[in-house]
Amino acid sequence: MSSEHKHCHAVLPPVRRKNGEPWVDLPGGAELAAWSTDDQVRYNQQNRQAAKHAFYVSAFDFLHDNDIRGDYLEFGCHRARTFRMALTEARRQNMDFMRFYAFDSFAGLPDCDPERVWTKTWTKGALKTGEDEFKAIIAGHGVYADKVRTVPGFYDQSLTPQLAARLKGEDCRAALICVDCDLYESAVSVLGFLEPLLQPGALVYLDDMFAGYKGSPLKGVYKAFREFAAASAWHFEPHIQVGWAGRSFVTCEKA
Ligand SMILES: C[S@@+](CC[C@H](N)C(=O)[O-])C[C@H]1O[C@@H](n2cnc3c(N)ncnc32)[C@H](O)[C@@H]1O
Repeated sequence: MSSEHKHCHAVLPPVRRKNGEPWVDLPGGAELAAWSTDDQVRYNQQNRQAAKHAFYVSAFDFLHDNDIRGDYLEFGCHRARTFRMALTEARRQNMDFMRFYAFDSFAGLPDCDPERVWTKTWTKGALKTGEDEFKAIIAGHGVYADKVRTVPGFYDQSLTPQLAARLKGEDCRAALICVDCDLYESAVSVLGFLEPLLQPGALVYLDDMFAGYKGSPLKGVYKAFREFAAASAWHFEPHIQVGWAGRSFVTCEKA
């Protein structure tokens, strides 16, 4: 994965300024002499999760400031890292009305064609967090746990028009949607399902827009979103760039 992208507004590691070029304090050879692969993984994960957290802070402030009431829907929940960010930021905005829907197979990725995915690590069952384990993470986090509802199943089976109608019947309306399911086919199912649950101002956050495929809009989740947006009754206004991989869009009525 490239760590840079032309739209990059990554949350950077803390910068120490210094009086002289290069004007910021950069670790040099001596400090990086023992830099390992573990350090690299930790460094990238911290920077990526920090960028997502900064997004959740802004997104919930946006929802609050625009008085957009509705629910949080996450498609691709795994270790509840982003889900916990949503719960915490909703609590900080005192959004007691919000419900939190976790859509996942809770059995990991579906079967995927190794020729069509950009990494060999994506195989059937990869990235699995079982439903009980997910619920335990949420309970341990201790924020709005009673408002979390899990919806288990592979999307091509579980995300039916009947389910969308049932959710609408429960007055479910999306305020913030996180699409973090990696695969083109998964994103197609998710985005098709979402259409009737959208409302003006709902934020759609695509976690994997530029991940893999050298950032190409012609593949992966980005391709699924382009196809969906072209056919949708809604207009999706580009909103916040999230690190180098993700972006949010504001759902708007078409002109
Ligand atoms: C990258 S992980 C999500 C990470 C999570 N948002 C976090 O912050 O911890 C991708 C998740 O998408 C789920 N997933 C991908 N495709 C799916 C499908 N077609 N049906 C159901 N779940 C799917 C996987 O089970 C996995 O939990």
